[in-house]
Amino acid sequence: MNSDSKIYVAGHRGMVGSAIVRELRRKGYNNLILRTHAELDLCRQDKVEQFFANERPEYVFLAAAKVGGIIANQTAPADFMYQNMMLEMNVIHAAWQNECKRLEFLGSSCIYPRLAPQPMREDCLLTSPLEPTNEAYALAKISGLKYCEYLNRQYGTDYISVMPTNLYGPNDNYHPEHSHVLPALIRRFHEAKESGLREVVCWGDGSPLREFLYVDDLAELALHLMEHYHGNETVNAGTGKEITIKELTETVARIVGYEGIVTWDTSRPNGTPRKLLDVSKATKLGWVAKTPLEEGIRLTYQDFLNNPMRAER
Ligand SMILES: NC(=O)c1ccc[n+]([C@@H]2O[C@H](COP(=O)([O-])OP(=O)(O)OC[C@H]3O[C@@H](n4cnc5c(N)ncnc54)[C@H](OP(=O)(O)O)[C@@H]3O)[C@@H](O)[C@H]2O)c1
Repeated sequence: MNSDSKIYVAGHRGMVGSAIVRELRRKGYNNLILRTHAELDLCRQDKVEQFFANERPEYVFLAAAKVGGIIANQTAPADFMYQNMMLEMNVIHAAWQNECKRLEFLGSSCIYPRLAPQPMREDCLLTSPLEPTNEAYALAKISGLKYCEYLNRQYGTDYISVMPTNLYGPNDNYHPEHSHVLPALIRRFHEAKESGLREVVCWGDGSPLREFLYVDDLAELALHLMEHYHGNETVNAGTGKEITIKELTETVARIVGYEGIVTWDTSRPNGTPRKLLDVSKATKLGWVAKTPLEEGIRLTYQDFLNNPMRAER
């Protein structure tokens, strides 16, 4: 990519897309093409074809998606499958038709089997059943990465994909039902502090182990791969480090300044005991996550405080 290459970032207002735009600008790429959801609905094939034919971007980062937490995924699997499948197929297909040089598809670690050996390597894809609660989303993401692979194989394109672990950072979604665990905890502890609540009850026993990657670190990898990686196998993005939900909860409470007590409702499910990505491939490609979790959470909480509207998303 040159500094004047025409680069389209799909989903640039989202957490990942906005981090990719920040990183592109930081590195001097200044010919960015951006469209909001309202300006271009990527589920509309005719509109997407028209946009690509007019703009002919040379590089595409596909960070648009219908994203949600466990409740949203469980209650609306048809919407998750349809919207993600449509927007991915429309964008990737139109990119290929319009001779886009390179495309990078953003997926998610939920593409891997529910009982995949830990840490999860890229080659455990499709080796056993998926986690049922987000199967529809995972199937759509698998289709996106496979479509890139098939285009590469059949037509010699150079399209790649990256599968991040749990992400967090500026522009996150703090919605009480639609958010992921870390932003949800930030919001809960912030509200508990504001209203002087003495106790916050969390689900399960706090023992599950999870991995969290600061979104700006992912954006750095996304550019690094676009600039240097040519291969037909997806690349995992994570820190390779785990933390228990209990430790995470205590860390968020401390950073937010909540001084009440945290109790655990063990009648509620814990979820998968462990979910960790094997990141040796990304490491070999010369990338390593830089932001320590505490620092990342501090930056994210600052963003939450600076952007009160974020909490309403
Ligand atoms: N967040 C995580 O923890 C995480 C973890 C692993 C992987 N990822 C991956 O990273 C990617 C981006 O996630 P994110 O967290 O940045 O999500 P996000 O903050 O919700 O951003 C997604 C963006 O896509 C846009 N979008 C959705 N449907 C669209 C459509 N039909 N047409 C045009 N734009 C549309 C959204 O616009 P509106 O808001 O206006 O609909 C939003 O700006 C996804 O592929 C996701 O799988 C995320």
